[in-house]
Amino acid sequence: MNRRGFLIRAILGLSSSPIMTSLSSAMEYPRCPFTLGIASGDVMDDSVVLWTRLAPDPLEADGGMPPVSVPVQWELALDPKMSRTVRRGEAIATPALAHSVHVELDGLEPDREYWYRFSVPSHSSRMGRTKTLPHRNSRPDSIRFITASCQNYTHGYFVAYEHMIRDKPDFIIHLGDYFYDTSFGVDDFRKHETEKAPVTVADFRRRHARYKTDQQLQRAHEQIPFFTTIDNHDAIEDDDPDKYAQRAAAYQAWYEHMPVRGYKAPGDNHFELHRKISAGDLIQISLLDGRQFRDAKEICNNNDYPDYGFGNYRERCTAVFDEDRSMLGKEQERWLTETLVQNKSTWNVIASPGPYLPFRYHHDGKELRYIGAWDIYPANRKRVAEALESAEIGHPIILSGDVHSFWAVDGRLVEESNERIPVVEFVASSISANWPEQLAKPVTDNLPHNPQVKFYDPDRRGYLLHDVTDTEWKTTARAMKDVRDEQSPALDLARFLVRKGEEGFTRLD
Ligand SMILES: [Fe+2]
Repeated sequence: MNRRGFLIRAILGLSSSPIMTSLSSAMEYPRCPFTLGIASGDVMDDSVVLWTRLAPDPLEADGGMPPVSVPVQWELALDPKMSRTVRRGEAIATPALAHSVHVELDGLEPDREYWYRFSVPSHSSRMGRTKTLPHRNSRPDSIRFITASCQNYTHGYFVAYEHMIRDKPDFIIHLGDYFYDTSFGVDDFRKHETEKAPVTVADFRRRHARYKTDQQLQRAHEQIPFFTTIDNHDAIEDDDPDKYAQRAAAYQAWYEHMPVRGYKAPGDNHFELHRKISAGDLIQISLLDGRQFRDAKEICNNNDYPDYGFGNYRERCTAVFDEDRSMLGKEQERWLTETLVQNKSTWNVIASPGPYLPFRYHHDGKELRYIGAWDIYPANRKRVAEALESAEIGHPIILSGDVHSFWAVDGRLVEESNERIPVVEFVASSISANWPEQLAKPVTDNLPHNPQVKFYDPDRRGYLLHDVTDTEWKTTARAMKDVRDEQSPALDLARFLVRKGEEGFTRLD
């Protein structure tokens, strides 16, 4: 049946029954609607979110679905053959949320694998696997997880996910730029569905669908629970009233495609994204939203060097140092301070989309800073550092992304004493987005002014793998040999060791 016939049948069905759900239960699906895959995420010790979206024509704005609500069956089992089903139910996929489904399950066993799938008449999704976190009062021996960010479809394959699946992590934290609004000026290796940046909710849905049809990304979502946050390319940064409608559209479409909780309603301009991830008393991770509530980044109105790092490195005017200036917004900052100070875990971790520790660029006789992250919110950074320091328990670690390159940074070595922060930061490179010479070279040129950066690799795409025990933290920078090879091998660029209670880190190998 063609799409038109599909639609007409659904609409005719609607007119024959006053009850929408009973009507659409009779919906026939000539083609499989699970083209965007399935996912799990926001796992806790007793809870998980299961996700899918019905889209027989994924690159159509409506996904090829008629404008009616339809039921979707789901089941959860203890084994991959789905023979020991422990839960099953029905969710309603509505056109208002692009026929996406978020099933929030509570009352699950801690530290346990589950398998799940969705179905509609005549079609089932592939099977997914997920895993709950260890019990909140337990003492897990170890946790293995990944931080990753920045997947530009046009720059390469998402082959990094093949390696992440082989690593068998407990979960993946995606630090943002899950999709790109534009390809930013390289010869497009793979094409977006359009070269125009998304503006409407229909545009954002099509862009998400473009990414979600990637099979390597789908397989990772099928196998591993994700935690996700938003960075600048997959949402609209800064609190600009002229862009509220666009930002609301971006958030809505993002929710419709992510296994997350917390979205209130279509059209809402705010979305509570920050969350705490806890694995027993071994590790607590505060996952941040660095874009939604921050004071404007264009504070100084100066862009003297548009040719230097595409204008992203700028001189700081005095207003940047304003004590009230916030990157997180008041509410999120209050939550973060409380979470850090009250931590009871061995490792007290912040996962931030953008880099936290300072980096000074000397250029044309001036000192410049990167305007994309914490370097233009020094007072807020200081307050966070103080909260980390005042926590009675917990070795602090910062994890971030955004800058498409691998960094390992020891904050004790920052030259300017008032900016010295005794924490370690590991920055993940990008899954596929490139780090052009324009942005990479200023960093390389300024490494001598920034002895805190003990490792920097601008050339490789990849991710960070973290192995955490009660006494040691090991981070491995896993790099792809070539993201334009769909089967690219991976190599370990470097491994770093942090010992509990000892400042700094050492490089292994
Ligand atoms: Fe990025």
